[in-house]
Amino acid sequence: MGRLANLLVLLVAISGGFYQLYLKPILTKAGLWRTIQPIGNTQCATVLELQACEKIVLHQPSGILYLACSVPFSRTVWTPALGRLDPTHASFDDFVATYDPATSRVRRLKVSNFSGSDRGLSLHGMDVVPSASNPAELFVYLINHRAPIDVQSAPRVGADSSVEIFKTTIGSDTITHVHTVEDPTIICPNDVVGYPDGQSFYFTNDHGEKVGLMREFDILGRASTSVGYCHVEHGCKFAITHLKASNGITRAQNDTFYVTDSLGGNINVLERQADNRLAVTDEIPTDRILDNAAIDSEGALWVAGLPDALTWMRKHSVDPSIPAPSSAIRLSINTGPDSFYGAKYKIDKIFEDDGKIASGSTSAAHDAERKLLFLHG
Ligand SMILES: *[C@@H]1O[C@H](CO)[C@@H](O)[C@H](O)[C@H]1NC(C)=O
Ligand SMILES: *[C@@H]1O[C@H](CO)[C@@H](O)[C@H](O)[C@H]1NC(C)=O
Repeated sequence: MGRLANLLVLLVAISGGFYQLYLKPILTKAGLWRTIQPIGNTQCATVLELQACEKIVLHQPSGILYLACSVPFSRTVWTPALGRLDPTHASFDDFVATYDPATSRVRRLKVSNFSGSDRGLSLHGMDVVPSASNPAELFVYLINHRAPIDVQSAPRVGADSSVEIFKTTIGSDTITHVHTVEDPTIICPNDVVGYPDGQSFYFTNDHGEKVGLMREFDILGRASTSVGYCHVEHGCKFAITHLKASNGITRAQNDTFYVTDSLGGNINVLERQADNRLAVTDEIPTDRILDNAAIDSEGALWVAGLPDALTWMRKHSVDPSIPAPSSAIRLSINTGPDSFYGAKYKIDKIFEDDGKIASGSTSAAHDAERKLLFLHG
């Protein structure tokens, strides 16, 4: 054997280890070897008017859903999370919609008092929170992926993303703008959790950089993402850095946060500290790629999971008319006998579909009072 053969053997050994250590777990969670096992998908209805709504938020008392919607084609060219940065064909006319399951009524909410309207709305994550002082008033927190002022520079510099805060009332057909928050910590924002004061929020950055080659290493578990905290009067700061593939974020009443590690398929549990920073207290593994998360009124966590992320990425995200399988998993506190042995959480797959009913779902919201599960993406 010559030196070349030795070198080849060495290379195969390294890449073999690399495959076992890094690639195989990702490909497994991404669903390469998974058979879709439909569950919970037989008594469903489809709302045709709504498309490309990345995030659903349930207003529990009324049962009304708020959705952050776009047009499917726009998502294929302008999605900073995926490095799609062609603003020339993007929709900056995205909108918040409401859907009332009791009447099947869909409404596209009008925007008022928005001084940034010339730069438009290109929506992604969202939160809708009743005001602390008046529960009939709601604050709507929106991730807005604005194009940079010099639009042509977008592929080079990325999006100029902001967080927009609007207010509305239940049943109103208008959202009224109150604040635009822009800050260097808002790098590549994905999802947002707002407070009932209408002034403060946490958000995830799904990448550590807006553009560039380093982003490509995130798939190998590079811990480059973060959660930021902003208050409109006191500014923004990082609440935690060095997280992996942060995507959805949601908060329980007691200020326990759940942030999905999308590519690793883990749910990070974090506690809010006195200085508004977050500390990880637990990391819960699942078997799939994860997107947005939401807590229901009984305290269970619902997460949209991509059972076949490879089809989602390679086909559906390029042409949304090609279906991609969807699922919803539920995380709850384990009260069964094995909780004694340390199994603190229970994970159940409540919904899975091959994409004919629910395609490419990025958000799952559960109405525990009315026993309804909603998915969209
Ligand atoms: C309109 O927006 C401005 C900020 O652009 C805000 O200060 C003001 O409170 C808003 N007006 C209403 C009626 O909410
Ligand atoms: C906060 O609430 C969540 C969900 O309801 C629960 O799982 C968690 O244990 C609580 N955390 C603390 C510190 O009480």
